[in-house]
Amino acid sequence: MKKILVINGPNLNLLGLREPALYGTQNFEALQGFIVECAAEYGVEVELFQSNHEGVIVDKIQAAYGVFDAILINPAAYTHTSVAILDALKAVALPTVEVHLTDISTREEFRRFSYISLYAQKTICGKGFDGYKEGLHYLSQL
Ligand code: DQA
Repeated sequence: MKKILVINGPNLNLLGLREPALYGTQNFEALQGFIVECAAEYGVEVELFQSNHEGVIVDKIQAAYGVFDAILINPAAYTHTSVAILDALKAVALPTVEVHLTDISTREEFRRFSYISLYAQKTICGKGFDGYKEGLHYLSQL
């Protein structure tokens, strides 16, 4: 069974509370439950990981080498700032999908650039929870 590491970055643990007009009213637990359901539907194994810390995310990506077959990541704010996360993804070279709940191309100017897109094979934006489903489906088919 394919093993997929699902990484959620900073402040995604506050889903539900956090800017509900943008990110919706469902909480992080609901997102995690949804991802687990999708994984079962597509016959893949998932590990769920969330951190508010850049270096901790880098450590987790490094540790994925030889353990996971693919990575699904919502790097949250680090999308727009983190060369370190980009370099870690390039280093382990696993198939990677980048997902964002919102459409980062239609928000503030500073959200339009993604370091992660320079490596990710696919970027899914603006589809809410369903973006994670689409990402898992894509990775399950590789
Ligand atoms: C986000 C978009 C980012 O710009 C923002 O910093 C986030 C969440 C999204 O899922 O839409 O924290 O990655």
